[in-house]
Amino acid sequence: MCGIVGYCGPKNATGILLDGLKRLEYRGYDSAGIAVQNAGRVDVAKRTGKIQDLRSVVPPSFAGNCGIGHTRWATHGGVTDANAHPHSDASGKIAVVHNGIIENYVQLKARLSSEGFVFASETDSEVLAHLIAYHYDGDLEKAVRATLAQVKGTYGIAAMHADEVGRIVGARNGSPLVVGVGDGEMLLASDVTAMIAHTKQVVYMEDGEIVTMTRDGFSITDLKDRKLDKKVDSVTWDLDEIEKEGFACFMEKEIFEQPETIARTLSGRLDPEYATGKLGGLNMTSRELLGVRRIKIVAAGTSWHAGLVGAYLIESLARIPASAELSSELRYRNSVVEQDTLYFAVTQSGETADTLYAMRELKRKGARVLGICNVVGSTIARESDGGVYTHAGPEIAVASTKAFTSQLAVFYSFALLMARMRDMSVSAGARYVKGLQAVPELVRGVLKQRDLIQTIAKKYSRARDFLFLGRGLEYPVALEGALKLKEISYIHAEGYSAGEIKHGPIALINEETPSIFLVPDDSLREKVISNMKEIKARRGPIIAFCCEGDDEVAAIADDTVTLPKTDELFYPFLMVVPLQLFAYFCALELGRDVDQPRNLAKSVTVE
Ligand code: F6R
Repeated sequence: MCGIVGYCGPKNATGILLDGLKRLEYRGYDSAGIAVQNAGRVDVAKRTGKIQDLRSVVPPSFAGNCGIGHTRWATHGGVTDANAHPHSDASGKIAVVHNGIIENYVQLKARLSSEGFVFASETDSEVLAHLIAYHYDGDLEKAVRATLAQVKGTYGIAAMHADEVGRIVGARNGSPLVVGVGDGEMLLASDVTAMIAHTKQVVYMEDGEIVTMTRDGFSITDLKDRKLDKKVDSVTWDLDEIEKEGFACFMEKEIFEQPETIARTLSGRLDPEYATGKLGGLNMTSRELLGVRRIKIVAAGTSWHAGLVGAYLIESLARIPASAELSSELRYRNSVVEQDTLYFAVTQSGETADTLYAMRELKRKGARVLGICNVVGSTIARESDGGVYTHAGPEIAVASTKAFTSQLAVFYSFALLMARMRDMSVSAGARYVKGLQAVPELVRGVLKQRDLIQTIAKKYSRARDFLFLGRGLEYPVALEGALKLKEISYIHAEGYSAGEIKHGPIALINEETPSIFLVPDDSLREKVISNMKEIKARRGPIIAFCCEGDDEVAAIADDTVTLPKTDELFYPFLMVVPLQLFAYFCALELGRDVDQPRNLAKSVTVE
């Protein structure tokens, strides 16, 4: 979604802002702009399209040392140059960029219009520029503070005034903002990736905080102007983690990173000596964990699919009732919170609004909510009662891949921990640990099938609809496979439990609608084979993902991809990776923008 970057220091701000915006491209956007202070003015350039389009309209005269930039993902008002940020006041001295939604903008706009303020865009954000102008008496921070007192909604903002040379004021409420502390320079961004080329020292802002920065330093205050002491954190990853490193796009790179990322997530989380899981960040004693009677998982999209696998595992291994619910549903449902229920909020970005607000609602009701997050220092990571970082490294492609398998790895470690505290024996635990530790190598083997998967993707990429079918642990994986294909290739795809097709979806089957079957060598294999035969009898093409040597499945399917055998619990890792590749190659074949699919954003910070 929208992104913010700001710079003040000795260098030319323009290049730094444009490079920062380029780094934010992965979040999804439809227009972009920058504002740079320049000899008593603020120069603004903005337009629809990509950052290279913006670059082409920024004249060399944009040469100031302090500026702000923005990538916009349209919410209020169409995709037009005028609606792009930064927004300015009538004098042109103020420039503001804004992420989030100003809920009372209609009222504010009406009031300002009646006082003679003229609006140039259809956005909610523009009211901020005029309100700041309304309150401005020579002190930008004061004017921003007065403005925010009138505003309802969510925001991450950065503002500048031409008369306050080298100063940026930022504020956060419900939309992330990070301060970067450089050597003689300061940065501000909605996401660390925009500033990592310049500094790894960062300060995560909280809701209700205002920052004022110049090249010499920064001060953070609350809305009542009380000074706050903030901790400076160090970012633990490097610039090369957000480079493509020879891959055609980030999604391909991230798919191929999975042997390492799964191993990294598991590292230190398994205790082979006692055959159990080790998750210190949960902030819960063994006794507290033993007292848990129910587990509920809230998440959205791909993270929800990981939650479905997690719930299945926890329930079957630890014998604790567990379920996963969409956060967008839970947040508006008056759900019952029971004393001995433990909640997990699962999220790659740690900023998804639905999941964040669901978590806050649960916490208001007294629930203990643990986070499973990838982005260190993200809002959900900070507001949860404890949790686990997935350590998959920055995920840049909009379609989530490595974050999913790392979320699975966390659930596999947690289910082991809970199971060993209950029914699972030491020897069963030891077998499980061994099996789990072998997963990264097995995934490496699966990735070697890339050419075969590409050939199959080429053959089927012109199909209009697909069904993805699996049962048990493979059912959520089928949902995930269908989501991946939809997101990046724009082919319609539905994931179903294979046992459910006879209850309706089978009506869709004909010679032109391929079904993708996930058929591991597990206790449901025979049942899934029956479901395959039902499709074959109706002449539906079948692509099967099954185990090496499964001739029975290969004989029914039109195309087969074989996977190594493992314990039946671990197949979700092996099944999802070829589905990611299948979606990727279909999208490539169709000439789609794989990393930045249309209409999608990386972290969905609005409802
Ligand atoms: C799918 C995808 C989305 C996200 C969803 C939740 O590829 O990326 O479905 O999984 O928006 O995002 P997080 O995990 O950041 O909460």
